[in-house]
Amino acid sequence: MSQPHLRLLFSREHIAERVQQLAAAINRDYPDGEILLVGVLKGSFLLVADLARALGRPCLIDFVRLASYGNETSSSGLVEIRKDLELPIRDRDVLIVEDIVDTGLTLEVLYRHLLQGRPRSLKVCALLDKRCHRQAAIEADYVGIRLEEGFVVGYGLDYQERYRHLPEIYLLEPGA
Ligand code: PRP
Repeated sequence: MSQPHLRLLFSREHIAERVQQLAAAINRDYPDGEILLVGVLKGSFLLVADLARALGRPCLIDFVRLASYGNETSSSGLVEIRKDLELPIRDRDVLIVEDIVDTGLTLEVLYRHLLQGRPRSLKVCALLDKRCHRQAAIEADYVGIRLEEGFVVGYGLDYQERYRHLPEIYLLEPGA
């Protein structure tokens, strides 16, 4: 892709509002006790930070890193775990925190892997849910924003490792 163009999709205010709504829904479903948030690096780093503060309750936080092989903007379907959990999850309420679920292949691999740790409960929170390329039969329990077709960057999401720092979410469009 030549120099891409970024078109604003979701403002920082819109994202903040959706994160607050996610936190409210999660707090309703988990009235007591600690939740263990499992962020999926790298894309979820901002969402974990914002969600943990929006929850306003005791949380444990850990991170995993998975990588899918593919070309610039699409997945090959092969996913590997490159960094595993550091905290034990047995008998804990575990919430996977994803920036985006696209094909669902990353989430499927992670979900199966975490189940082996025998958590008390295992659910998924995703800021963005893009269903048009879904390949795995898996759904997030908490979804901030449903997305149609398009490659998005910002708020943790990258294109060739760029744009993760942006506070807004943009649609990446091919340059001239
Ligand atoms: C992105 C995103 C999700 C995954 C979703 O991560 O953060 O983890 O892809 O895609 P899928 O549903 O098609 O599996 P990526 O592998 O690009 O790594 P990154 O978070 O480090 O950018």
